[in-house]
Amino acid sequence: MSRIAYVNGEMVPLDQAKVSILDRGFLFGDGIYEVTAVISSRLVDFENHAKRLKRSLSEIGLANPVTQQRLHQIHHDLIAANDLQEGLIYLQITRGAAERDFGFPATSEPSLVMFTQAKTVLKNPWAETGIKVVSTPDLRWKRCDIKSTSLLAQVLAKQAAAVAGAQEAWMIRAGKVTEGSASSAYIIKNREIITKPLSNAILPGVTRKALIVMIAPLGLKLSSRAFTLEEAYSADEAFITAATNFVMPVVAIDDKLIGTGKPGPLTLALRQAYIAFATAE
Ligand code: PDD
Repeated sequence: MSRIAYVNGEMVPLDQAKVSILDRGFLFGDGIYEVTAVISSRLVDFENHAKRLKRSLSEIGLANPVTQQRLHQIHHDLIAANDLQEGLIYLQITRGAAERDFGFPATSEPSLVMFTQAKTVLKNPWAETGIKVVSTPDLRWKRCDIKSTSLLAQVLAKQAAAVAGAQEAWMIRAGKVTEGSASSAYIIKNREIITKPLSNAILPGVTRKALIVMIAPLGLKLSSRAFTLEEAYSADEAFITAATNFVMPVVAIDDKLIGTGKPGPLTLALRQAYIAFATAE
């Protein structure tokens, strides 16, 4: 059975899902996106993904081509059409197709495309082993709070990780870790969870937002501040969060083992708390 994608109002087999070569997403990266996890054929934290989507659109002066209710319906229709049990839905809205010119076109219609990817989320084997991270310069622009489809810096960062045999890259700006190429970054020291506060320098993670309220009930403290690589190397534990990774332990950074070199107990407790939230919704 072919996967079914959504393209501007129509459900079509993936191999027939097409947009124009003049689409501004293709030409300029002039668009935004969202990735929402799916567990037991249900969306995880859709409301907060929709909220961030609305903000990203507004920050780049782009109107949402559909209502939030319709967006929710299309997500559900895609899950059903693909019989998706576990994985994700990718959504992208661009400024649409128009004659190539940098400024906003007068007449283009925004383009909305969505597709599914099956992925093991709850029993992701990385949660058992932990992942390795490498540090890399943060080459991105100054509006990393917008979930923009212009992702070349993150593509290069993730590739640097892959070449080094790691699964994620932590990006460094002004001597501090900003975040992962596609995830939020955290370390734990003396039962304190340390993560960079929200600003234009990082993406406001939807998983981060939900996880932060789970910290105090576990008897842990949240410290919203940027941390250095040296602090990370000597942390008790480290982890990342992202829509389909949930809470993922980090066991090595730049080939230096973190803590015991195994997923840390507090990280695993946070992962369990997040799984309980994601499956209870
Ligand atoms: N990435 N920071 C960056 C730079 C990201 O790209 C992501 C997510 C996150 C975590 O955000 P959230 O918890 O809302 O997924 C943080 C997605 C999953 C991606 O690009 O595939």
